[in-house]
Amino acid sequence: MALSSIVPLAGISCDYPLNYALGFQDPASNFMYAIVDLHDRIIFFLIILLVIVAWTLISSLLNSDHMALLNHNNTIELIWTITPAGILWAIGLPSLNLLYLMDEVLDAEITVKAIGNQWYWSYEYTDYEAPIAFDSFMIDEASLEIGDQRQLEVDNSLVLPVNTSIRILVSSNDVIHSFAIPSLALKVDALPGRLNSLGLIINRPGQFYGQCSELCGANHGFMPISLKAVTIPSYINFLEANVEA
Ligand code: CUA
Repeated sequence: MALSSIVPLAGISCDYPLNYALGFQDPASNFMYAIVDLHDRIIFFLIILLVIVAWTLISSLLNSDHMALLNHNNTIELIWTITPAGILWAIGLPSLNLLYLMDEVLDAEITVKAIGNQWYWSYEYTDYEAPIAFDSFMIDEASLEIGDQRQLEVDNSLVLPVNTSIRILVSSNDVIHSFAIPSLALKVDALPGRLNSLGLIINRPGQFYGQCSELCGANHGFMPISLKAVTIPSYINFLEANVEA
């Protein structure tokens, strides 16, 4: 296994899962930055707590004086009841704040539809006079080329511009699927007969991957989502190429 598959090289973003990786994929939207930030803050305090609790537990087991100090000690019991409640507030408030912020769909400049099917995704660009619509199937293992991501590569990626306010409408034609891209902090259920909407601003160009995240049948694991984030001129080229076709 190459070192670069454990430690992403500086300057190269990690937009797909790596072997033995522990953290998140690199963020490509503000919400994902905020989520990673919140996670890191919580983990920081969690480690401090872990050390304090482990030290208290072990030292009281090994030392009978410490044990006697903890036994039937009202002050200490008061502290270890109120402190965790405060910690829960400190974790809960910023996460609720983030959750409601993410639910907000701002004035979108582009609207695309992502529709789940057993077992592939269809995308529709309905803003334009000649709407663009295509299906996106996974490329099977035998047809992969070097550098491709197994079970993540598709024949037609969803193409979207960077630094643009995008609304994604998610629905399904058959059963419940889920449209998810980790590095963009996207995850929303695709429900038949219902339209769910998501707001998205992509921060940097790149190829982002996700997978259907709701158990939807035999090929649930084989309907990946691939999103290509491009600059505005490239996006216009993409539109022109697809309108002509
Ligand atoms: Cu579609 Cu799981």
